[in-house]
Amino acid sequence: MAQLIDGRKISQEMKDELKNKVEELKKAGREATLAVIQVGSDPASGVYVNNKKKACAYIGIRSASYELPEQTTEEELLALIGKLNRDKSVTGILVQLPLPMQIDEDKVIQAISPKKDVDGFHPENVGKLVTGGRGFVSCTPAGIIQLLKRSGIEIAGKKCVVVGRSNIVGKPMALLMLRENATVTVAHSKTRNLKEICRQADILIVAIGKPQFITAEYIKEGAVVIDVGIHRRNSADGGQSAKLCGDVCFSEAEPRASAITPVPGGVGPMTIAMLMNNCVEAMLTDA
Ligand code: GUN
Repeated sequence: MAQLIDGRKISQEMKDELKNKVEELKKAGREATLAVIQVGSDPASGVYVNNKKKACAYIGIRSASYELPEQTTEEELLALIGKLNRDKSVTGILVQLPLPMQIDEDKVIQAISPKKDVDGFHPENVGKLVTGGRGFVSCTPAGIIQLLKRSGIEIAGKKCVVVGRSNIVGKPMALLMLRENATVTVAHSKTRNLKEICRQADILIVAIGKPQFITAEYIKEGAVVIDVGIHRRNSADGGQSAKLCGDVCFSEAEPRASAITPVPGGVGPMTIAMLMNNCVEAMLTDA
């Protein structure tokens, strides 16, 4: 039986630690406000944004909501970001992605002050991750490092395969594992012999965005399996009670793995815990 890596429990532990830290920082006269911007009314984004605001309330920091209409222009959004950059009471800025087609996501990410970029998406923060400097790190991969460390899983010297190369997960994940002294391979949907490469991994991190793609034959006996995917899977009753599944076929992977994250309740809750961690870090720098 594989060790089940409990993201809900670890995320709660982290949020409680952060809540105590915020209390101390407030006593020392520090305050924090996270500005959360959502453009349009994508239901999934709405759920994520609400969870982020709830987490802020839990750890004791303010959140300010900006709900903009679907037709918002790039100029209007950039103007709002400029205003929030200049506002000293705002310590963090988060623009929920994806954005409507008329808005260039890269331009928006680059407009956010790197000091307030709690998502860790700004090229200056990405550059610091590459060169080993201090900066904000993308929340999902940073959360996975915490999951591994807090579950007592050693990283140094291990062979890690990351499946997926997005800017938000795959690329920063590979850099973080390298920083932790793993030997890292980045694979993706075009990789030849993907199965053989995955089967070499001591730690397999999957963010390929395909439901239950990773089956038993991708997994080495005793590997640690981290599943970043989250998909709605229609059930036998015609979708009345849609269940969630990941990029990994859990029932096949679990008997082979030494440790594995479930979906839901694995990686997902850690993203918000790390966002809160970044918001607390942002309290320590002058806005
Ligand atoms: N959309 C999906 N994931 C994320 C995230 O981590 N941050 C933001 N801002 N948008 C997202």
